Amino acid sequence: MNAISPRSNRPPYPSADEELGEVLRPDEEMLAFQLADVIERGVRAQYQPGNARRDVHSKATGCVKAEFRVNDALPESLAKGIFIPGKTYQAWIRFSNGSGDPTRSDDNDDGRGMAIKVLGVSGFKLLENARDATTQDFVMINHPVFLTNDPHRYLSLVEKAGSGSLLTKLTIPLTLGLKGTLLAKELNSGKIANPLQIRYWSAVPYQLGTGPQRQVVKFSVKPDSPATDSIPENPGHHYLREAMQATLRKGDVFMKFLVQPRNSDSLSVEDSMIEWDEAVAPFYEVATIHIPQQEFATSERERFGESLSFNPWHSLPEHRPLGVLNRLRKIVYDRISRVRHEMNSVDGREP
Ligand code: HEM
Repeated sequence: MNAISPRSNRPPYPSADEELGEVLRPDEEMLAFQLADVIERGVRAQYQPGNARRDVHSKATGCVKAEFRVNDALPESLAKGIFIPGKTYQAWIRFSNGSGDPTRSDDNDDGRGMAIKVLGVSGFKLLENARDATTQDFVMINHPVFLTNDPHRYLSLVEKAGSGSLLTKLTIPLTLGLKGTLLAKELNSGKIANPLQIRYWSAVPYQLGTGPQRQVVKFSVKPDSPATDSIPENPGHHYLREAMQATLRKGDVFMKFLVQPRNSDSLSVEDSMIEWDEAVAPFYEVATIHIPQQEFATSERERFGESLSFNPWHSLPEHRPLGVLNRLRKIVYDRISRVRHEMNSVDGREP
């Protein structure tokens, strides 16, 4: 397969932090660039210039303004990076359906995404072309595990499924294997009532802190306001957006941001198909997400949300993404968001 990007222009592939349990696979770097090439071809084929969307999670159910307020008191081991006790940051949060089809009705089985962009974070960032950005991203889905760890499988899945119809074909059994097929079914099986009323997980691990004290964590966000909605009897095409609108017209929404430190070698850093059992490794609350009452469903906000790039590598070193999936994401997300912005003639700089 011909790579679209010349080798000399390639961003560096992440190295593995073996002390934290990362293990580089011999061919994963090559596969990461192939994956980016295949997805880029898909996006270019699926969309006309001016109208390019994300390859997956293409339909936003809402992009909302929020505050990320760190708890007043935190154990020293968790008070790292942006988790400065008592500090409040402004943030943008994009809620999405997992499908690569932006025209699909909300009334379909699908995974759901929550991508948080915390603003006003100073300091050196990991992504080479956004070193001075003042953002820290946290990208989550509504499931505690991911459907594969295997770059080969993910690549052949994307190749077979073709961009745009990826999530509808996720159950291709020969590609994903039995476990992956079951997980894909699980991940995409859900109908929900309201994206503001469900729980989200990072699914993949992250570093917390730097130096000899650094540790491995996963994170999660869970609602702190009561979940009152049920799925409407005749759900409309955009009923999730409408549910969010109704909730945020009535009042503010609060969610808790949780961190789950890895406390045993049996919790894998590389294998994100196995959940870290909460009974073994509990979650700790580190921050409150406050989504104030607002009207978010405007065309201006919609355009703004689509112009954003969420990327786990928009990150301080204290929150460095870990594991094979995150390493692949460094190459893929950066490339695909740049392609999208270039096709749309949009300035993709961080807000
Ligand atoms: C090999 C692994 C993965 C690949 C290749 C991949 C690919 C992608 C791509 C191409 C995008 C669109 C980026 C853009 O155009 O800006 C995206 C967005 C997204 N991905 Fe992944 N992904 C992977 C793993 C994951 C995992 C493990 C999660 C779980 C946390 C996840 C959650 C999301 C979410 C929530 C979005 C939407 C972010 C937004 O609102 O802009 N992905 N992914």
